[in-house]
Amino acid sequence: MPSKLQGFSILLALAAVVYQFLLKDILFRTVGLGRTVLPVSSFPYKCHRIHGDPNIQACEDMWLDENSRTLYLACSDSAARRDWMPNIHRLNASARALNDHIVAMEIDNPSTSGGYTYRVLETPGFPGVNGDGRIHVVGITGIHSTDNSDAQLWLVNDRPSVDSTTGEFLDQEVVGANATIEVFATKPGAETMQHVKTYANPQIATPNNIAVTKDGGFFFTNDHGPHKVGWRHHLSPVLGTGDVSYCSATGNCKKVASGFKFPNGLHLGSDGLLYIPSAAKGDITVLKPAADGSVTQVHYIHLDYPIDNLSEDANGDIFAATMPKGLASLATFNDPLNAPTAPSTVWRIRRLNRHLPDEYEYQLDKIIEDGAGEKLPGMTTVIHDAKTGTLFMSGELSILLYVCPGLVKLTIM
Ligand SMILES: *[C@@H]1O[C@H](CO)[C@@H](O)[C@H](O)[C@H]1NC(C)=O
Ligand SMILES: *[C@@H]1O[C@H](CO)[C@@H](O)[C@H](O)[C@H]1NC(C)=O
Ligand SMILES: *[C@@H]1O[C@H](CO)[C@@H](O)[C@H](O)[C@H]1NC(C)=O
Repeated sequence: MPSKLQGFSILLALAAVVYQFLLKDILFRTVGLGRTVLPVSSFPYKCHRIHGDPNIQACEDMWLDENSRTLYLACSDSAARRDWMPNIHRLNASARALNDHIVAMEIDNPSTSGGYTYRVLETPGFPGVNGDGRIHVVGITGIHSTDNSDAQLWLVNDRPSVDSTTGEFLDQEVVGANATIEVFATKPGAETMQHVKTYANPQIATPNNIAVTKDGGFFFTNDHGPHKVGWRHHLSPVLGTGDVSYCSATGNCKKVASGFKFPNGLHLGSDGLLYIPSAAKGDITVLKPAADGSVTQVHYIHLDYPIDNLSEDANGDIFAATMPKGLASLATFNDPLNAPTAPSTVWRIRRLNRHLPDEYEYQLDKIIEDGAGEKLPGMTTVIHDAKTGTLFMSGELSILLYVCPGLVKLTIM
């Protein structure tokens, strides 16, 4: 039997291990203890809000089509996110939003109300769940056709699970949601998007975001790995059971990398590399994909802010929406309309010497930060329009879109 002293030192050692591997990250990275956040006035942007428009709420993710100068937004209902958000175990399907939609916003056409002219895209013929035609949007990304006339929109669709024989909803708390990846085709100026394909596969379990490859396959992050419900789901961000998976164009899917803590809005760069941010811990894992979808890690970018989503601008710079105070961001989630606003930070991640194939050097710049949550509360996605220097920011819970016109000329390398 170990002596009391031995027992105590084992306990101490355990505590040290827990501190080293879990608590330290949770306190200083996730919670952001001791981190100084600057007020938005320290940055040379003059931002304004597009608000009061029910169509532009809870726009969790966006994709900018540079060719047609159209910003596509995946929008929902802020209040309903609290009840139906399977990625974070909100599984009350009867309270889910029934009006999720894609907005196509023409960013070169300001409207009289201070926003931009836009279209809410109809989805004729899309079956939805049991023929209800509805979609439950989370992530969005897009690609151009080769002649640049059409765009394809790729969506994560968090549909509720149904019994295939009776058509009744199953108990979502037990089986989890039935997330699928949907492909739609649209054209500049169109009022509709045509459904092209649904990818449903057991490997598409807790998808967060998608990155489409040139040959029509796609990578995606399962932010909680295979675990849709239960304690494995809750502990996944701590245990690191999130993964990166790949599906071929024909729908054969497989896990290609594992061990991630809440891997979030991944991005396939114009440099051919796959960037995987962590919303729990921060940092970005850089993977190099092969043609069969397998990946090898080539680099790791240290950025100790919990990261939501990545996007790339026309210059090849990556923009990251981050949460300097992760816990405050979580509080907003429970009470989106009343909780104190959470700070946000935008980082620019620039790959230096991109033309050198095996050199991985990145320059990190803080582009804007809102320590008091005055202007950009709860931002989860940022898009930089390199042509005008404008930043577009939105949040999965926020009832508005933030626009920061480019007063600063960001240098183009
Ligand atoms: C789920 O949502 C419905 C409809 O809003 C509500 O009546 C019900 O109380 C909710 N159930 C739970 C468990 O929160
Ligand atoms: C980033 O976007 C993805 C979908 O694009 C979404 O699921 C995720 O929640 C976003 N990040 C957060 C935490 O809002
Ligand atoms: C999930 O969605 C797919 C695609 O519509 C469907 O074939 C499948 O039956 C659904 N499964 C459940 C459990 O809802």
